[in-house]
Amino acid sequence: MSQKRYGVLFVCLGNICRSPLGEGIFRHLVAKNGVDGLFEIDSAGTADYHVGEQPHTGSIHIAEKHGISIVDQRGRQFTNDDLKRWDYIIAMDDSNRQNLLQLDKEIERKLYRLRDFDPNGPGDVPDPWGRGEDAFQDVYNIIYRSCENLLTHILKEHGHVDEGTKS
Ligand code: 4NP
Repeated sequence: MSQKRYGVLFVCLGNICRSPLGEGIFRHLVAKNGVDGLFEIDSAGTADYHVGEQPHTGSIHIAEKHGISIVDQRGRQFTNDDLKRWDYIIAMDDSNRQNLLQLDKEIERKLYRLRDFDPNGPGDVPDPWGRGEDAFQDVYNIIYRSCENLLTHILKEHGHVDEGTKS
């Protein structure tokens, strides 16, 4: 029997700044830990403003600076199919979370804010839209350390105790 894959969807407003970084960093971490086969990963926005677009150049550059390519991603809007399809829906801030809950309250049990997993404490991943490189670097750091903990959490939750979480 084949191993079930854990589905993780990162969600922000536009799907061009924060959630593409979430998707790219989480992909990087699962590959680094040799557990890519266990995961299905994607990202989406609650709004349709940037459907079909590449991630924001600020996000592309900061990811590239850290050896992660997100250039192949394209913006898409969260759909009703996403409500059922994913095991973990990871919102970047509380307003994303509220927007998703309005679509279906039933998803609350699998809906998290990324910074629920931040070792430096909970809160929102600030929106770097319209801000400079420092803002994108801050967001990158927050997302990276939170994704490390998220990966550990999911692996432990499913009893994959032997898999490490190398950053
Ligand atoms: P994101 O950032 O939600 O992190 O992708 C934003 C991108 C675009 C807009 C707002 C936030 N916008 O208003 O177009």
